[in-house]
Amino acid sequence: MANILMRTAGNVADWVNARAPGLMPMYRKHMTEYYAPKNFNFWYYFGSLALLILVNQIVTGIFLTMHYKTSAAEAFASVEYIMRDVEWGWLIRYMHSTGASLFFIVVYLHMFRGLLYGSYQRPRELVWILGMLIYLVLMAEAFMGYVLPWGQMSFWGAKVIISLFGAIPVIGNGLTEWIMGDYLPGDATLNRFFALHVIALPLVLLLLVVLHLGALHEVGSNNPDGIDTKHGPKGNAWSKSAPVDTIPFHPYYTVKDLVGVGFLLIIAAFIIFFAPGFGGWFLEHDNFTEANRLVTPEHIKPVWYYTPYYAMLRVVPDKLGGVMVMFGAIIILFFVPWLDRAKVKSYRYRGWLSKGLLFGFAIAFIWLGKIGAGPGTEVMETYIGRVLTLYYFLFFLTMPLWTRIDKTRPVPDRVAAHD
Ligand code: HEM
Repeated sequence: MANILMRTAGNVADWVNARAPGLMPMYRKHMTEYYAPKNFNFWYYFGSLALLILVNQIVTGIFLTMHYKTSAAEAFASVEYIMRDVEWGWLIRYMHSTGASLFFIVVYLHMFRGLLYGSYQRPRELVWILGMLIYLVLMAEAFMGYVLPWGQMSFWGAKVIISLFGAIPVIGNGLTEWIMGDYLPGDATLNRFFALHVIALPLVLLLLVVLHLGALHEVGSNNPDGIDTKHGPKGNAWSKSAPVDTIPFHPYYTVKDLVGVGFLLIIAAFIIFFAPGFGGWFLEHDNFTEANRLVTPEHIKPVWYYTPYYAMLRVVPDKLGGVMVMFGAIIILFFVPWLDRAKVKSYRYRGWLSKGLLFGFAIAFIWLGKIGAGPGTEVMETYIGRVLTLYYFLFFLTMPLWTRIDKTRPVPDRVAAHD
């Protein structure tokens, strides 16, 4: 039996190869002959995990779409119907809502890995820029998805965020009305957000991810030591022309990535089955009440993954200033490859100045997130938020200076076995 199956599979492969001879070379280039440095560690799990979650979001999203009703009058009830009456509907919905938050956790860790190991430095600037475009689209995608259940937070969140465009001089009010298609979020808003959330932005995301990986595979992966394996000595156990100290992506890293997948699935299952709202962090309590334009929730705040930026918006006293600071905080990340002037990539060979400032940056980002998730009424917290916002910007704006004066250690030519 096994023999017949193997032979049939071989015949099918030969048939396909004869008709599409370009497929196997492509498979080899990106899998079995993609030679990646042998010292990938924990931080290198998150790219493949982000891919897995992207697939989860698309598949569960398709099933949600089969039962969801896109109208302000029916949307909320249709989500309740999915939760109570559709077979396994609750599971599909919780897989999708938990997936959204896990997506951001994984992407934030993936981005932080880039900062730790200088993965954005030459020649990987394009990989970073495409990653940043993915991040922007992902934020828009999640924002529009959150509006669809048409709960109180969907409605008021949409109102607050879309109204930010009103701060733009001259065209602001017209622009806000154009985006909403109404004077308040309503049927028109819901319909266009649905179209963008289920088809337009996922297509853009998929395209950007393909380009992101294509750009990476052109220049090759960085590694925790930041050693340039591609231009170093040649010859590994599989090929004389491959860079030394590298291993084929498949099967070595596909198997390693499966370990990460196992951990992610355990964490995801725990959340989905035991704490799908995650204490109001993944699904906010107010969103279990239907949207009502006459009742404002006590605290309007976005989901946790936007709260660092939301805190910046709130601590700046001027509305237009706040909007500029908030968007500026994201835009500045695009320029990191040119702001960092260090001679070495990885923090492992950087001095205490870089290490300390990067650690401070991580603390500032998380702390801002906590401030943005709070009620925003404490005066002391507002001052702390201002200091942290200043730190956030100074970290990047003074980067050309401190990366140059920081003492670095020489990077070895060969990858050492660290772990
Ligand atoms: C849907 C979201 C994303 C997916 C599916 C994704 C996927 C991947 C994958 C599979 C890799 C190779 C494996 C690895 O190095 O972990 C990678 C590498 C990389 N990604 Fe992403 N990525 C995403 C978002 C981002 C974002 C938002 C950024 C930064 C702004 C980014 C920056 C990078 C960089 C710099 C590398 C090269 C890392 C190195 O070689 O050390 N990615 N990405």
